[in-house]
Amino acid sequence: MPTKDNVRIAPAEGKLGVLTPGVGAVSTTFIAGVEAIKRGLGKPIGSLTQMATVRLGKRTDGRSPYIKDFVPLAKLDDLVFSGWDIYEDTAYEAALNAGVLDRSLLEQVKGPLSAIKPMKAVFDQEYVRRINGPNVKKAATNYEKAEMLMDDIEQFRKNTGVARVVVVWCGSTEVFHRPSAVHQTLESFEEGLRKNDPEIAPSQIYAYAALKSGVPFANGAPNLTTDVPALLAMARDRQVPICGKDFKTGQTFMKTLLAPGLKARMLGLNGWFSTNILGNRDGEVLDDPGSFKSKEETKLSVLDQILQPKLYPDLYGDVHHMVRINYYPPRGDAKEGWDNIDIFGWLGYPMQIKIDFLCRDSILAAPIVLDLVMFMDLAQRAGMKGIQEWLSFYFKAPMHAPGLYPEHDIFIQLMKLKNTLRWMRGEDLITHLGLEYYD
Ligand SMILES: NC(=O)c1ccc[n+]([C@@H]2O[C@H](COP(=O)([O-])OP(=O)(O)OC[C@H]3O[C@@H](n4cnc5c(N)ncnc54)[C@H](O)[C@@H]3O)[C@@H](O)[C@H]2O)c1
Repeated sequence: MPTKDNVRIAPAEGKLGVLTPGVGAVSTTFIAGVEAIKRGLGKPIGSLTQMATVRLGKRTDGRSPYIKDFVPLAKLDDLVFSGWDIYEDTAYEAALNAGVLDRSLLEQVKGPLSAIKPMKAVFDQEYVRRINGPNVKKAATNYEKAEMLMDDIEQFRKNTGVARVVVVWCGSTEVFHRPSAVHQTLESFEEGLRKNDPEIAPSQIYAYAALKSGVPFANGAPNLTTDVPALLAMARDRQVPICGKDFKTGQTFMKTLLAPGLKARMLGLNGWFSTNILGNRDGEVLDDPGSFKSKEETKLSVLDQILQPKLYPDLYGDVHHMVRINYYPPRGDAKEGWDNIDIFGWLGYPMQIKIDFLCRDSILAAPIVLDLVMFMDLAQRAGMKGIQEWLSFYFKAPMHAPGLYPEHDIFIQLMKLKNTLRWMRGEDLITHLGLEYYD
């Protein structure tokens, strides 16, 4: 049958492997969730690929298929999971430790979760200082470790018979680093791997191994990872999609909902103070100033980009934006985030907004992981390579082409995502002009 698709999309045949560096709170909540949903024990709340529709044509056409019926996505039943971690706990034990999902639910998916035994990790304590574990690869050079990761991917393919694989970084946040000389070209990067250059982070070794294996790589943490010229070029040259960084879940999600609204009404902002208490392992890692610095950078970048202070100096020229994360063990994964927002209106009269978000970090992150798996696999089957900016919707610090500014406004991000799906399928893009309804 002839197709009017703008891109040729290979069918989602066979099984789809999902590998996560990091088998912790987020990844086990995601995996256990998919297994529970497959058994009818819950619904995939928060996932666009499973629950959202996409409007096609005019508002009067009445065409709003589910995204999963509009573009060919893998089925939940086709997903096969594994991962790497520095701890030997199975996904079942890690999920129990994370304390996100109820034990009674985990018991019902104990079989598949217990079968997931993390592969040995590539780890460097210089990059994640607060934790240490025994399940790590040993080799003389990082180049050899990258080869071992590639071998893990190959063995996983062989053992499970998956047709395709996607990697999503769900590991701890690494300490803040800027791109350096070793990151500039593939040659310098590979040389750096051979010489154990300390500027190459473990997450970059995973990303290199994934890209070299032709496997899409999404980065759920704020680490630099693929945001360096060598790996960006590698993704393009090898026709592999990449995206990142840092899942947009609790407080930053709220920020990207509210800030565009304030700006839309031309209301001014003096200050935005955000603080959190958090007691899971992620919180423990972020208690280290180096890891927190990575997080702070992605969290702080959001407001500046949305508010455009250079265009609106009267409204946003002098904004005090502060973000704090406090490690407070009693809370576990049940984070609490407070925002105090000082705004001003007509004639400069001040007002305040207070938010108290009692969220569950991993409950918000799990559907993002699922959607990224589904969409990254789609992107690869559609021949899309390099940075997938249309997936900015899911990230605090969306990757973007050099010279572009990132798009943080969640409503623009959603429009971009859905228009990309429409474009793939050769449907008209939706502009919301709508004059034709009044002709
Ligand atoms: N939960 C959220 O809402 C959210 C939002 C945005 C970003 N993130 C990021 O996602 C990541 C995972 O979060 P989490 O709550 O699952 O944390 P977690 O601490 O429960 O899990 C991370 C796991 O990664 C492992 N790990 C660390 N370095 C590794 C390496 N080099 N190789 C393999 N495994 C490694 C740790 O042992 C740990 O088990 C963190 O970086 C976090 O900042 C989470």
